[in-house]
Amino acid sequence: MTKQTEPAIHPFLYNNEWKESATGNTVDIYSPDNGNLVGSVPAMSQDEVNDAVNLTADVQENWAATEVHERSDLLHRWADELDSMADEIGAMIQLEVGKTFSSAKSEVKRTAQLIRHTAEEGLRTHGSFIQGDAFPGASRSTKAMVQKVPHGVVLAISPFNYPVNLAASKIAPALVTGNTVVFKPATQGAISGILMVKALVKAGLPKGVLNIVTGRGSVIGDFVVTHDKLDMITFTGGTATGQHIAKQASMIPVVLELGGKDPAIVLSDADLKKAAKEIVGGAFSYSGQRCTAIKRVMVMNDVADELAEEIRSHVANLKVGYSTDDADIIPMIDQKSADFVTALIDDAKAKGATVVHTGAHEKNLLSPTVLDHVTEDMDVAWEEQFGPVLPIMRVESELEAIDLEKRNEYGLQASIFTTDMETAFTLSERMNVGTVQINGKTSRGPDHFPFLGVKNSGQGVQGIGRSIDSMLRDKVIVLNL
Ligand code: NAP
Ligand code: G3H
Repeated sequence: MTKQTEPAIHPFLYNNEWKESATGNTVDIYSPDNGNLVGSVPAMSQDEVNDAVNLTADVQENWAATEVHERSDLLHRWADELDSMADEIGAMIQLEVGKTFSSAKSEVKRTAQLIRHTAEEGLRTHGSFIQGDAFPGASRSTKAMVQKVPHGVVLAISPFNYPVNLAASKIAPALVTGNTVVFKPATQGAISGILMVKALVKAGLPKGVLNIVTGRGSVIGDFVVTHDKLDMITFTGGTATGQHIAKQASMIPVVLELGGKDPAIVLSDADLKKAAKEIVGGAFSYSGQRCTAIKRVMVMNDVADELAEEIRSHVANLKVGYSTDDADIIPMIDQKSADFVTALIDDAKAKGATVVHTGAHEKNLLSPTVLDHVTEDMDVAWEEQFGPVLPIMRVESELEAIDLEKRNEYGLQASIFTTDMETAFTLSERMNVGTVQINGKTSRGPDHFPFLGVKNSGQGVQGIGRSIDSMLRDKVIVLNL
């Protein structure tokens, strides 16, 4: 489906004008599929980033003064434009981050749905009214009107793996609540993010309400994150980057969606065929490059052989190839990430893990690997692989699984497979994660569910309604009658 377009520089948006950096500097983006140059984005200077944030701040009061139904209408029009650009944007996602075209296009369609739902929820945001007489010494004649007001200028930073969806899921709730936005896309995925913003401009974005900053996060990140005109930061990406940003941001609210090491805990009474199917889907889709991928299996000893065989038979059917082949397992985003996964596999094998399934590894295209008898001394038991390797850890008891889960640094999601609902709920209560999935793979959606990580997996909550909440603060006006 994808046709390689002529590599071009893709300008950033400033005051609804598409501009290149005055420095002439650019960052090149290469396809994970074949290493071809996809295009470039401007490497903006600090002065240009500064101008972008200042402009975003200058127009914020006017944007917040618009009627919420107008802002909601803008979002609806944006969703329509995205739908009509789904092929174009899907093709760019495929080129930039190596998803298959169908999965890339689904990301755009899912994003349009998310924006529409956000537009609707945004209309239903209300403050509250409190009477004073509930507190001793105060009276009913003292009344508080608790309004919900936007923070002001929101910096939205997105990761490579959902360059459109995880950008729009920040931008849409920010805009509908009256915030203005500085959007910093992941460099790998930036062109897709820029196309997504083109749809927003077509939909009637007022000048200055969203501005884009492009350039490597390692170069412009600290400058933009510490800008004194920012009022809130919403970030999705790696834990180390998120922790760094949180420290830099100091006093402003920061929402972080970070890494995970989501376990699938399989109990002796589980439907093993179903569990294996869910686990393989959860672990290997987009080659495991999802925060919510199942990243380790903890299985009861007495059913471990059978589960490992079920998993092996599913993995053996996965098609390994390129996004253009519509493969299940596609090349990883870059060689460095592939080398990291290879090192985890080598470390585990050297320490005694058994290989249930593997295949050829060529450059950044790694065949799916399933490792059994993984033990605590192996790095793959703890590190977020973000790639196509699945460690299986055999446990003696539910308590051992809970203990293993509790001792890891992450707390995004966990799956429990069992036919005993009482046990499922008891274990769910004991797990220190944002979400527990019972008899299903770990995953963020449906997009209106709250989505959060605890421990090193994040702070704050996303998901449509909660994202809207995170974009607002209380403003209290007290009537003393
Ligand atoms: P990343 O390297 O942390 O990058 C994420 C974003 O941060 C990119 O836009 C990046 O820009 C930017 N950035 C880098 N350094 C920065 C700095 N000093 N200041 C400000 N911004 C900076 O993450 P990634 O490689 O894109 O994604 C992989 C990781 O993200 C995995 O750990 C995964 O689990 C996590 N993730 C989590 C979720 C979730 O919802 N929990 C979702 C997706 C991904 P550049 O691209 O220009 O470097
Ligand atoms: O990579 C992190 C995403 O938030 C995962 O979303 O579960 O829909 O793939 P997903």
